[in-house]
Amino acid sequence: MSLENPQRYTVTAALIYANGPIHIGHIAGCYLPADIYVRYLRSTGKDVAFISGTDEHGVPITIKAKKEGITPQQVVDKYYVQIKQAFSDFGISFDIYSRTSNQIHHETSQEFFTKLYDNGDFDEEVTEQYYDEVAGQFLADRYIVGTCPVCGNPNAYGDQCERCGTALSPTELIEPHSTLSGSKPVMRSTKNWFLPLDRMQPKIEEYVNSHTEWKTNVFGQCQSWLKEGLRPRAMTRDLDWGISVPLPDADGKVLYVWFDAPIGYISMTKEWAAQQGRDWELYWRDKDTKLVHFIGKDNIVFHCIIFPAMLMAEGSYILADNVPANEFMNLEGDKISTSRNWAVWLHEYLEELPGKQDVLRYVLAANAPETKDSEFTWKDFQARNNNELVAVFGNFVNRAIVLTQKFCDGKVPPIGALTDYDQQTLNELAQFPDRIGQAIGQYKFREALGSLMDLARLGNKYLAETEPWKVVKTDPLRANTILNIALQISANLSIVCEPFLPFTTEKLRSQLNITEHFNWTNAGRADLLVEGHELGKGELLFAKIEDEEINKQIQKLLNAKRMNELETKTIPAIRNEITYDDFAKMDIRVGTITEAERVPKSDKLLKLKVDDGLGGRQILSGIAKHFSPEEVIGKQVTFLANLAPRKMMGLESQGMILMAEDRDGKLSLITPGEAVWNGGTVS
Ligand code: MF3
Ligand code: ZN
Repeated sequence: MSLENPQRYTVTAALIYANGPIHIGHIAGCYLPADIYVRYLRSTGKDVAFISGTDEHGVPITIKAKKEGITPQQVVDKYYVQIKQAFSDFGISFDIYSRTSNQIHHETSQEFFTKLYDNGDFDEEVTEQYYDEVAGQFLADRYIVGTCPVCGNPNAYGDQCERCGTALSPTELIEPHSTLSGSKPVMRSTKNWFLPLDRMQPKIEEYVNSHTEWKTNVFGQCQSWLKEGLRPRAMTRDLDWGISVPLPDADGKVLYVWFDAPIGYISMTKEWAAQQGRDWELYWRDKDTKLVHFIGKDNIVFHCIIFPAMLMAEGSYILADNVPANEFMNLEGDKISTSRNWAVWLHEYLEELPGKQDVLRYVLAANAPETKDSEFTWKDFQARNNNELVAVFGNFVNRAIVLTQKFCDGKVPPIGALTDYDQQTLNELAQFPDRIGQAIGQYKFREALGSLMDLARLGNKYLAETEPWKVVKTDPLRANTILNIALQISANLSIVCEPFLPFTTEKLRSQLNITEHFNWTNAGRADLLVEGHELGKGELLFAKIEDEEINKQIQKLLNAKRMNELETKTIPAIRNEITYDDFAKMDIRVGTITEAERVPKSDKLLKLKVDDGLGGRQILSGIAKHFSPEEVIGKQVTFLANLAPRKMMGLESQGMILMAEDRDGKLSLITPGEAVWNGGTVS
């Protein structure tokens, strides 16, 4: 069951690890839907706290620090600033974007832990964990590497083999070693505090089962966890990066990052409320507040089971009303991957395609992975911009404004008698705000965006059928009515597109010269712009994107792929042994290329004339993709002189030019270190 018509909302978006920049997958999965939802709620007059920030603890941060050779603090300081800036430039309208390293967060998490401890909610347990005696510390699963028992990958991690995908525990690894010191880890016992999720299962089940309205992917994942049976989970860890456990006998232990991070939503709300002079408790303790967590699918169990269990144990907080998690977005047919640099990075997009925030917002919302994994391609990006934003939305609004400028002196003309078609158009217009709003309220953002475009289509069709540019010559009063209606539709578009395209809303409002506060509560009306109201300057809302711009982005991805392949490329194994006699059979000689031309109808072959000191010979060489004819003429080369002649493309080849292949597949001619007479032998 979901809260009916609440007036106050606490909306959170996942606290992303501050260990790298954000990419389109994060945005499509979590931040953009959250922003659309919140902007819509604000437009309907709701009281909303939109909370997010960075997660600055946990092993992902320490691993990044180790990789870059800097401290964890330097890692989080760098990425907090970068991530916050990118979100802000992209128009994600958080009320606060904070970080879990703040004092107030440390205090809030420790108080939370202490309360549970005092309640007797934790089980204290001693378990055996891997310990690195050289580094002098316990090892998180990710710090242990060994051979995968399933596929034999020698570099499997203690929690997962990235080659075969198997989930592992460190004790399953063959010949485990620590990535900190390389030493063989030993088992050592350690005390930690566990949340008894097993005993809490009935209450958690009752909570989850009361939310059959959750998205199927979310509800289904919860059911499968519950079906397996919940197990106690340690809420403290033996690590040196994190929030220290507020107990006397917990030296060298910190709170589990998934314990402290979601509490970050609460501490950040406190921080925001203090800045705003508001009461934070209303947003976390009032039963009439609707709490919604936007996350990606890898975070479901933490937000639907573990965090609610913590909140239940604490006892004074509300639980999430909904957790609209998305699936993943792929990129050009492949999984987005930070380590392989297979991603579109937000900060790079903003720099390379300036002023196009709304185009990316539009494309990501249109392809949002709401019910299953989806796909981003640059060709689709271009097509949606050119065929939808430019041709439909931008074109309609621009025509309405430019025609008004031309025929009505730039002022909203009077509306006269309505035809049936006018009336029908206005009736349809009136229904759009509710239709779009309802879809947003149900987290169906793709559908909502589709309706928004339908409204632009309605306008486009209206102008196409009424043809005011013709009518004006014979019946200027009728043309006035048509343009008035087209302008009302445009004004409505400026309201209902705001959650999706906030930058466009701003431009549109300035073109329509709207200063009144229009929002969802006035939307649908046909009298938003009064007769005589003077418009601003009409300008194109969206610009066509040319192939060149898109090809640049595609090329960038291809380069990333190539770099990756290079990194994984290995030197081939030595072939089977041969005897000296086998070798001596080959007659390799030096010659000079005297003529070269492309072989017609072949993109691979060059036809070469080689001076071999014996009157010259013709050799066909498959190097046309690597060398132009001009480049090779005059070059001394080595060639296999006694290879049986062969015909290719109807031409005879008398020998073979020798080449060396570089790591990236680039070919290089084997030229003698110094000039040698043509016909000189190689041995
Ligand atoms: N840091 C996690 C991630 O990037 C998300 C944490 S969400 C929170 O996957 F609730 F814990 F804050
Ligand atoms: Zn494996």
